[in-house]
Amino acid sequence: MATPLTLVLAPLRGFTDYIFRNAFCRHFDGFDSALAPFLSAASAARCKPVQIEDLLPENNHRLPVVPQIMTNRAPDFLGLAHLLADTGYDIVNWNLGCPYPMVAKKKRGCGLLPYPELIDAFLDHVCAEIPGRISIKMRLGRYHAEEIDRLVPILNRYPLAEVIIHPRTGKQMYSGEPDLDAFEKCVAAIRHRIVFNGDLRSLERFNAVAGRVGGRVAGWMIGRGALIDPFLPAAIKRGGESGDCKLERFKKFYDDLFDSYRRKLQGPGHLLDRMKGFWKYFSQAFENGRQIEKKIHRTHRLDHYLGIVNRFFEEDARWRG
Ligand SMILES: Cc1cc2nc3c(=O)[nH]c(=O)nc-3n(C[C@H](O)[C@H](O)[C@H](O)COP(=O)(O)O)c2cc1C
Repeated sequence: MATPLTLVLAPLRGFTDYIFRNAFCRHFDGFDSALAPFLSAASAARCKPVQIEDLLPENNHRLPVVPQIMTNRAPDFLGLAHLLADTGYDIVNWNLGCPYPMVAKKKRGCGLLPYPELIDAFLDHVCAEIPGRISIKMRLGRYHAEEIDRLVPILNRYPLAEVIIHPRTGKQMYSGEPDLDAFEKCVAAIRHRIVFNGDLRSLERFNAVAGRVGGRVAGWMIGRGALIDPFLPAAIKRGGESGDCKLERFKKFYDDLFDSYRRKLQGPGHLLDRMKGFWKYFSQAFENGRQIEKKIHRTHRLDHYLGIVNRFFEEDARWRG
């Protein structure tokens, strides 16, 4: 029997919080679970309530969510993992992918990848004491795709829940081609459940990647592709597009999302900033998206923003495809 296709919403800090995840699920299908954006608190004691709010069970009954922590200190990871276990989470993900130089130079995120001995010591400590299990989201390396070769035997020694691989180096940030050759090599060598992540932006692209590396892949994680085309996860699940009324359906989702953030965020500046961020992705779904993106980017007032977006939906918006 064919294994069911598992799709996971990627963590995009500043975008895929519980407000977004819930609004998404009210309008679109396809995702089986989500990985939450990382908690960066140095310790459980210093973890801000607003970060845990994203993970409260009452905010997450639509889509199962796995929390993520970014730290290089095992005691801090364990402190938070215990707090999260008390909230009901038995798997906690460790971020070994964040590429930002400010993070990486402190040996956090992908900045730990060139140091197998530090990763080994971290896992040794955490796996002995974690109340549930740890999974990992990682890149191939910070500087070189070969860094992962030295990590594979270490990863194989620990009882990891799964390994999510974004086959780029940290140096590449989010551009350049994902390295499918290197990914295939890792999949063959890692004994854990593997999830693929990176640039799954269309059904055609998904089919091409799945056809090439899919054999041992247990799940597929989609981030920006779902922000740009929220119909994509369902299309992948169905194996075909659902062509109907996309613009109307997207508009309903957008209204719901805007309204949810309006109720949640304090003050028009925060709301405007948040929506500006989303339009960098949303605009790419429209044939004439460049113009609206530019106009929204330039505006500094919420009333102007509302005028621009209303006019766009009423008169100009042309959904791609
Ligand atoms: C704005 C932004 C925020 C991100 N935040 C996180 C994060 O909190 N944790 C994480 O593991 N990855 C984070 N990522 C990486 C994504 O989860 C994902 O690995 C990357 O975007 C590639 O997948 P995609 O092409 O499907 O978007 C972020 C990426 C972007 C662009």
